[in-house]
Amino acid sequence: MKKELKPTKHYGGAIEVPGDKSIAHRAVLLSLLAKENIEIINFPNNQDCNSSLSAVEALGVNVERSDSIISLTPPEKLDTTEDKIIDCGNSGTTARILAGIIAGSEISTTLSGDESLSSRPMKRIISPLTEMGAELFADENDTLPMKINGKKLLPFEYRLPVASAQVKSSVLLAGLASSCSVRVIEDVITRDHTELMVEHLGEGLEVRVIKAELVEDPNDPRKKKMIMPEDFKKEIKTSSQTKIIGGRVDIPGDISTAAFFLAGAAISKQTVTVAHLGLNPTRTAFLTHLKTIGCKVVISDKETVSGELRGTVTVTGAELKVKKISGSTTVGLIDEIPIVAVIAAFTEGTTVIRNAAELKVKESDRLQAVADNLRLAGIKCGLLEDGLAIEGGTEFSGADFKSFGDHRIAMAFTIASLFAVGPSSIDDASVVDISCPEFYELLGKVTKA
Ligand code: S3P
Repeated sequence: MKKELKPTKHYGGAIEVPGDKSIAHRAVLLSLLAKENIEIINFPNNQDCNSSLSAVEALGVNVERSDSIISLTPPEKLDTTEDKIIDCGNSGTTARILAGIIAGSEISTTLSGDESLSSRPMKRIISPLTEMGAELFADENDTLPMKINGKKLLPFEYRLPVASAQVKSSVLLAGLASSCSVRVIEDVITRDHTELMVEHLGEGLEVRVIKAELVEDPNDPRKKKMIMPEDFKKEIKTSSQTKIIGGRVDIPGDISTAAFFLAGAAISKQTVTVAHLGLNPTRTAFLTHLKTIGCKVVISDKETVSGELRGTVTVTGAELKVKKISGSTTVGLIDEIPIVAVIAAFTEGTTVIRNAAELKVKESDRLQAVADNLRLAGIKCGLLEDGLAIEGGTEFSGADFKSFGDHRIAMAFTIASLFAVGPSSIDDASVVDISCPEFYELLGKVTKA
C-alpha cells in the first residue's frame, strides 16, 4: 500500500504509544517455562508480538485474549509433536529467544520466518546453544528454517561476542529451560528486559553489574583514579534454582515507537508529550541523545510497574547541534538509528554514526536503506563500513521513499516527509504493522493537514 504524505502545517500534542515490543515478547515466551498463569496488560497488537503468541500457542500454551489483555496458561507438558513448524514471521526476537527455550526443553521443532527473517544471521545463537549440547540444523548460511532438537543441556559460561540482548536471552533461557547453570558476561550492557522479567515472574537469577571504582593512583598517592574492578560490565547467572512461577505483567509504552513522534518535536521545535512510557535505563539513550543535541527533555510521574520503570516524557525541540554517535551509545540506540539519521538530516553540519555494522542485519540493511532514502531527498549521505556520515541542514526535498519492507524505515521517512519541501510517498506503509499498526492514527493526533 503506497501512502501519499504531505508536509504538516502544525506539529505537537500529547499521545500514548502501544506497549513495549521487547517486554511483550518476553512475557509471552516465558509462559513456556512458567508453572502458573501469566496475565499481560497493555499487550501490543502488532505482527511481531502476535508471532510470539502463535508460537507459544502451537507449543501447548492456552491463550485467551480480550482487547489488550492476554491470559496465558502453561500446559502440564509442552506439545512434543515431532515435525512441527513454527512461523516466526518477521520477528528476530521471537526466533532467537524461542530457539534457546526449545533447545533446553527437550522438544524438537523447526523455526521458519518470512523472507527478511530467513536472511538474518542465526549463527550467533547456533554456536553457543550447540556448545551447550543442543542440536540445531540450519542451512549452509546459518539462516532459517532451522530444526532444533532440544536436549538436557550442559552448564555453560559465555562472554557475548556481539552486543545482543536476543543472544543473551537465548542462552540464559536455554539454561533456565534445562535447569542448568549458565553464566553470561557482557562487555557492553544491552537491554535487560529478560533479567527484569525473570526477576518479576520468577526467582533465583543472579545479576551483577560492575561499577567503576575510585581508587588511589599507584603512581601518585595524592591522586585518585577510576578503575573497573573486572574486565567486563555485567554478569548474569542462572542455576538449577532459577524458576519462572507466573504473575501479572503490565507493559509500559514502547520508547522505540515513541522515538519517531519525539523526533518530530526535535525537528519542528515544537512539543510532544508521551505518558506511561517505558524508561528502562538500557533503553533511554534516545532521550539522552535528544538532550545532547539541544532539545529540552522533561520526565515526570516516574514509577516502577512489573519491574520496569515508566513515566511521562515531554520533548521540546530547539536549534539542533551535531553529535557523533559511536561505541556503547550506538548499542543503546540500536533501534533508533534510522530516526536519529533523519534528525541529523535536519541538523546543520555532518553527523557521523559509527560502530553500527549490526544495522546491516536488521529487518533490512538499515545503513543502506537510510542512505538511499536520504539521497532521494537530496541530502548528502556517506555510507561508511560501519555507519553513516550525514551532511544535514540543506533542503530536505519530498520524495518517493522506500520502506525496504522495514517498519522502522517506513516510520522514520514518514516523519521526515512531514518537514520536507514538497509532497512525498512511502511505497509500502503497511509494514508499520510489524511494530505499530496504530502509527498513522497516532500521527494524525500530532499533525495538521
Ligand atoms: C531486541 C534486541 C535488539 C533489538 C531488537 C529487539 C530484543 O536486537 O534491535 O529490535 O528484544 O532483545 P539485537 O539483540 O540483535 O541487538
